[in-house]
Parts: sequence; C-alpha cells; structure tokens
Amino acid sequence: MKRMLSGIKPSGQLTLGNYIGALKEFVKYQDEYEMYVFIANLHTLTVYQDPEILRKNLRDTVLLYLACGLDPKKTKIFMQSDIMEQAQLGFILSCNIYLGELNRMTQYKDKLSKGEEGMSSGFYVYPTLMAADILAYQPDYVPVGDDQKQHVELTRDVAVRFNNRYGETFKVPEPLIPKQGARIMSLSDPSKKMSKSDASDKGCIYLLDDPKAARKKVMSAVTDSINEINYDPKNQPGVANLLTIHSALSGTSIDALVEQFKGQGYGTLKKAVADEVEKLLVQLQTSYKELLDQNILTEVLAQGKASAQGIAHATLVEVQTKVGIEI
Ligand code: AMP
Ligand code: TRP
Repeated sequence: MKRMLSGIKPSGQLTLGNYIGALKEFVKYQDEYEMYVFIANLHTLTVYQDPEILRKNLRDTVLLYLACGLDPKKTKIFMQSDIMEQAQLGFILSCNIYLGELNRMTQYKDKLSKGEEGMSSGFYVYPTLMAADILAYQPDYVPVGDDQKQHVELTRDVAVRFNNRYGETFKVPEPLIPKQGARIMSLSDPSKKMSKSDASDKGCIYLLDDPKAARKKVMSAVTDSINEINYDPKNQPGVANLLTIHSALSGTSIDALVEQFKGQGYGTLKKAVADEVEKLLVQLQTSYKELLDQNILTEVLAQGKASAQGIAHATLVEVQTKVGIEI
C-alpha cells in the first residue's frame, strides 16, 4: 500500500476551504492508502497565537478531523510537536536549503510586498520544517491544496539534493492537488482564497459556524452583473466558486449543475448552495458534539504518536548517520 501524509495548520478555526480542499479528500484516501495526518501545531507559532485560543483550535481541529470521517483505525492522526524528530530533521534540512529558495516562497514574498512588520524568522524558515514533516515519513504522496504546492516542490528539491550529496535516503514525494476544489474562494471577494486569516468574516465559512449564519454568508456571496450561470472562473469567479462548492458537496458534476441551473437567477443557485452548506455543517457539528462528550482526544493522539514516531525516528537516525553527526 502506498503511503500518504498531510498536515493542517490550525491557526484558526477550520473552514469550508479546508474541508473541500483537504479533509474531504483525506477521508476518501484513507481506504486506498496508508494514511498519516498531523496537526501542524508548531507551524502555527510562526505568527503569534493567543495560547488559550490556540489550545481550543487544536482540540477542535482533531475533533473536526474525526467528525469529517477520518477514522483513527485507518488514519494515524498525531500532533506535530509530539514527534520531536520532525523538528530536529528540520534543522538538518535547513542546512541543505538555500536562502535564495526561501526568498522565492510566495507566502513570504506576499508578506514582504505588503510591508508586513514583525515577520518572525520562524515564518521565514517554516518551509524547511514542512520539508522535514514530510520527508520524515517517506510518503509516496502529499495531498495539499494548490497554495501548498510550492512547499512540496521545495521538499522534493531538498530530498533530491540530499540523496545526491549523501546517498539515497529520502523517497521523493509527489504532491496530489485535487482537480476541483483546490482553491475555494472567498464569498465576499472571489479573487481571494477563502481563508481563516481573512480580515472580513463574511467571505469565510467556518465548520463550526452557526448553520443559519453560514446560509446568510452564501446568500450574500458576491457574484457579477452578467446574470447567466456559466462556469467561467476568469470572468465570473463568484458564480464559478458557488458551482465548485455545490459540486464538491453534492457530488454532482459542474457541467450537470450548469445544465440544471441554466436560465435561472443567481438567487436560486445561492439557495441550492446554502442548502448543501447547511446540511454539511449540521451533520459535522452533530458528530463533533458527540465526540466532544466521548472525551477521546488524548487516546486518539497517543495512538497516532505511537504509530508515527518509529518511522520518523528511523529516518532521523539514518540522516544523522549519513551526514556524519552520529559517532
Ligand atoms: P491551511 O488552512 O492554510 O493551513 O490549509 C490546510 C489545507 O487546506 C491545505 O491543504 C490547504 O491547501 C487547504 N486549503 C486551505 N484553504 C483552502 C481553500 N480556500 N480552498 C481549498 N483548499 C484550501
Ligand atoms: N503548511 C501547511 C499549511 O499551511 C501545513 C503543513 C505543514 C503541511 N506541514 C505539512 C501540509 C506537511 C502537508 C504536509 O497548510
């Protein structure tokens, strides 16, 4: 069975973008692959987090993973900081990644061009830790949304470079980007990604949003004045986004939806999308509450750690031996 690994950075509440771009896919994959999913809690610290809020987000993230259908019997679910080997490998990899490569990371460049003040050095080097998160487990595939593709490419580059310098050590993983739903856009500004770091709350649906409030966000989604339902992300990004969300949640193809809604107003499409979103949130939140009552977090994470640590440890020992720091 091929191995797959991915992580989510819980620096806020999980969004509908996370669900469609990542979680929903993981659930599908867990039957076909040996699946490892971790909560990238160290990565959250690249930007200051209120400790109490962070703790709640971490717990909610694990519970929502489970509520979305990740089954701890099939998927190893663990906390990044529980596997210290990852951070140690991260330092060694950072010594094999050039400053020029980090300077080219778009997330860093974006912040730089916005003149963001107080960027931490942790934020700058975080792609090196991400490379270690991945390579420690020798996965075949890394499913991510397309915003993370560049980081997986850097991971591949450092794997190849390390293998050339020190001999075959790392498997070079492939990114897996979902064809549809890789980028769910903000409802209030469809030129931007739906993101938990969005300034306005209106464009982003959180998985723990009140379902009725989420409906309202969909109903007030920004569209255009063309008034015709087509799938045309370039000229009608708002409508394309609504169609993508509907298709991801209902399983109906975009072509079939365009056919179905042909000649109807945007209000009808929005209502149908709102129905799908409401249905999802009600279902997720019901299982979230049940899981909360069962108090199973610690056990799930301990199990995940037990399955993951051996692999990361073996990789780290091999790396340390190859680079010559083990005497
Ligand atoms: P993040 O929330 O940015 O840490 O991302 C966690 C995972 O969800 C990554 O695989 C992202 O690519 C994916 N993701 C985040 N936001 C979106 C979005 N708006 N559309 C699709 N996928 C997303
Ligand atoms: N950087 C990713 C994000 O912001 C989260 C992440 C950290 C990750 N380590 C990873 C994803 C390893 C895949 C594999 O979404």
